Amino acid sequence: MTDQRFVHAQWSSRLAFILAASGSAIGLGNIWKFPYLTGENGGGAFVLVYLLCVAAIGVPIMMAETLLGRRGRQSPINTMLSLAETAKASRLWQYTGWMGVLSSFLILSYYSVIAGWAMAYILKMNSPMFAQISPETALRFFDEFRTDPQIQVIWHSLFMIATIAIVSRGVSAGLEKGTRYLMPALLVMLIVLVGYAIGSEGFGQGVAFLFLPDFSKLSGESVLTAMGQAFFSLGLGMGSIMVYGSYLPRHVSIARSTILVAAADTAVALLAGLAIFPIVFSNHLEPGMGPGLIFQTLPIAFGAMPGGAFFGSLFFVLVFFAALTSSIALIEPTVAWLTENRGLSRGAASAWSGLVCWGLGLGSLLSFSSWSEVTFFGKNLFELLDFLTADIMLPAGGLLVAVFAGWVLNRKDTEEELEMAEPRSYEAWRFLVRYAAPTGMGIIFLKALGGI
Ligand code: TRP
Repeated sequence: MTDQRFVHAQWSSRLAFILAASGSAIGLGNIWKFPYLTGENGGGAFVLVYLLCVAAIGVPIMMAETLLGRRGRQSPINTMLSLAETAKASRLWQYTGWMGVLSSFLILSYYSVIAGWAMAYILKMNSPMFAQISPETALRFFDEFRTDPQIQVIWHSLFMIATIAIVSRGVSAGLEKGTRYLMPALLVMLIVLVGYAIGSEGFGQGVAFLFLPDFSKLSGESVLTAMGQAFFSLGLGMGSIMVYGSYLPRHVSIARSTILVAAADTAVALLAGLAIFPIVFSNHLEPGMGPGLIFQTLPIAFGAMPGGAFFGSLFFVLVFFAALTSSIALIEPTVAWLTENRGLSRGAASAWSGLVCWGLGLGSLLSFSSWSEVTFFGKNLFELLDFLTADIMLPAGGLLVAVFAGWVLNRKDTEEELEMAEPRSYEAWRFLVRYAAPTGMGIIFLKALGGI
C-alpha cells in the first residue's frame, strides 16, 4: 500500500494553506452548531470550556495532525502506516486513518441536510411574509419546513449534487478563488448582524448569557460536547488537516499557521453567538431550542432591517458557501482513498461516495419529522450520528494523533518538523500532546460515559 503515493502537490504559499484550512474549519459548525449547542448547554460555562478545549487541546492536536501530514506526505491512511513503519511501531496505527474516513462520511450525511436548510432559506428570505416577521411566525414557519420531508429531500439532494460536482473536478481553482472573497464577505455579514444585535434590547442579556459562566449548568455530557465541538469546528481528528499538512511547503511555520486558523474559526463562532443570542432574548425566545435556532432567530433580525430580504438571502448564500467548502473537505478523504487504492476515477469515486452519504442523510432528515420517535439510547438518528462522530470518534481520532506524535515519533523528528524559534514553545507543545491533552480527554470521556 505504501508505494501507491500521491503525486504530491504543494500549496503555493502559507496564505493558501491558511485559507484552505480556514475554509474547512469555518462552516456550519461555527454558524449553526456552536450557537445551538451553547443555547442547549446553558451558555457561558459551556463557552468557557469550549475556549479552553480549543486552546489547550485543539491547537496542539491541530499542530500534531499537520506535522504528521507534512512528515508523511501521503493520504492519512498511508501516512500513518509509513510513519509507523519508520518508527518501528505497530501497523495498526493505520486504523486511525480508517476511522477518520468513516467519521467524515457519517458527518457529511447529516451536514448535507442542514446545509440544505440554509439553501432553502436563501429563497425563503425573499418571501413577503418575512418582512417584519413576528417571532411566533418565524417559529411556526421553521416547524412547518422541518416536518416537510419532501421539500428537504430536494435541498439535501441539491447540496450533495453541488458537492459531488466540485469534488469530481478536483477542488477547482474557481472555488478556491471564490472562497477568497466569500469568506471575508461572510465575516462582514456577521459583523452587520452583530451591529443589529448591539442595538437590540436583549444585547446585554445575550452577552451575559455567552460570557458569564454559570457552572451549575454544566454537566459531564456538556463538557464532552464542548470538547467534541472544538474538534468538529476545527475540523480535527479525521485526517482532513493531515491531508492539508501534507501539501505544506517545508519552510512554513506550522505553529503560527495553525494558531491563526484556530483564532479565525473561534472568532467566527463567537460572532455568530453575539449575533444570535441578543435576538433570542429581545424576542423572549428559548436559547435551548436546538438545531433550528439560527433558522428561527435570524429571520426576525432580517425582517426588521431595511433591505432585509436581500441581506437575509445573501447571508444564507454565504452560509451555503461556508458549508460547501467544509463538505468538500469532508468527502475528500473517501474520494482520495477510492481513487488511490481502489483505482476508481475521480468522477466515479465522488458520485458513489456522494450517493451513499445522501442515502444515509435521509435517515437524519426524517429524524426531524416522521422518524423523530425512532430512538437509540434516547437519541434520534440525527442526534445519534452527531454524538457518535463529534463527541466520540473525532476526539478519539485526535487522541490517537496526540499519542502518536507525542509518544511514538521520536523527539528529534517532531522538533525538526515544528521548528519553533522558542525552545520553550516546543516544550509546551510536547507537554500538551504527551500529557495534558490525553489526560484531559481521558477524564472528560470517563466522566461523560461512566458518570463519575
Ligand atoms: N469544521 C467544519 C465546520 O465547522 C466541518 C468540518 C470540515 C469538519 N472538515 C471537517 C468536521 C473535518 C470534522 C472533521 O462546519
